[in-house]
Amino acid sequence: MMNKYARITGTGSYLPPRRLTNADLVSQLAAQGIETSDEWIVERTGIRARHFADAGMTSSDMALEAAQKALQAAGVDAAEIDLIIVGTSTPDMVFPSTATILQGKLGTRGGAAFDVQAVCSGFIYALTIADALIKAGSASKALVIGSEVFSRILDFKDRTTCVLFGDGAGAVVLEASAEPGILATDIHADGKYTDILCVPGHVNGGQILGLPLLRMDGQAVFKLAVGVLDETARTVLAKAGKTEADIDWLIPHQANIRIMQSTARKLKLPMDKVVITVDQHGNTSAASIPLALDAAVRSGQVKPGHTLLLEGVGGGFTWGSVLLKM
Ligand code: UT7
Repeated sequence: MMNKYARITGTGSYLPPRRLTNADLVSQLAAQGIETSDEWIVERTGIRARHFADAGMTSSDMALEAAQKALQAAGVDAAEIDLIIVGTSTPDMVFPSTATILQGKLGTRGGAAFDVQAVCSGFIYALTIADALIKAGSASKALVIGSEVFSRILDFKDRTTCVLFGDGAGAVVLEASAEPGILATDIHADGKYTDILCVPGHVNGGQILGLPLLRMDGQAVFKLAVGVLDETARTVLAKAGKTEADIDWLIPHQANIRIMQSTARKLKLPMDKVVITVDQHGNTSAASIPLALDAAVRSGQVKPGHTLLLEGVGGGFTWGSVLLKM
């Protein structure tokens, strides 16, 4: 049986307890001869602090914490979940998927569980797929999660990247519903740009070949991001028959406050309609949007009935957006 809509019924998130302010990170890097400053980081990115997971904490551990909070908020038992999708580029293992490991930790069985690899667009891709599967009648209650431990793939000798990222997880429960719900989705990729944001290392014959650390051409990513975010915002609004004026909250991928300001300006949205967590979380890749969504729900910014535009962009190059009613 086809379902009319898929609707978010609960949100949850998790940040590892170890919090580093810019000052903490700047002094740690200085001890290794790497020069940066709070001023540079704040001015160029808007980031003031980030959380790093301690050794031993994995993406599935953080996903579990976020999922349990989302299930509690939705009033759904883990056993009712028939689909788990985890957006992550920092999985626990090469395989099996972080989603199946999470399913084991939740103590459930039988529903589909898999990961989506779309880097910082991972949650937008995961939500798009879950929406489609629920509408098709293939699932009825989904956990859609972004969870990342980017601290594990950062090169702390490269100041152009190591100050930007953080760890964390965000989750939503998405349920079949007669009421909206997700209104429209829009996802894209351009494989010409694999080199501008990548971790080239890979497992081969018992060894890692190539650098297993993040490399980014920040300026190239910045320029592409600003263009595609505007494009996908207009596309998803048009698909839903809505306009900028219908948006209560823009929840963009939290990479750089300047990219978010540019997106808002192009959509003629004031910054007080933009959810901002990049200052406290840094860039948590696939986790950034569900982390920001949960923060905004729990702070009372996002209320039932609000229309939200979620937007992601990242390595691949990938990008996309989801327009939804809470
Ligand atoms: O999550 C996926 C999506 N990712 C993104 O959206 C990231 C997009 N890119 C960006 O956010 C920005 O390009 C960055 C924040 C990465 C860099 O900002 P920028 O304004 O593009 O700076 P830049 O790369 O042009 O570097 C400006 C200067 C350079 O020095 P010179 O060549 O002008 O002397 C850099 O060497 O800043 C220097 N610099 C630093 N200085 C102090 C680069 N990193 C640092 C640092 N501390 N950490």
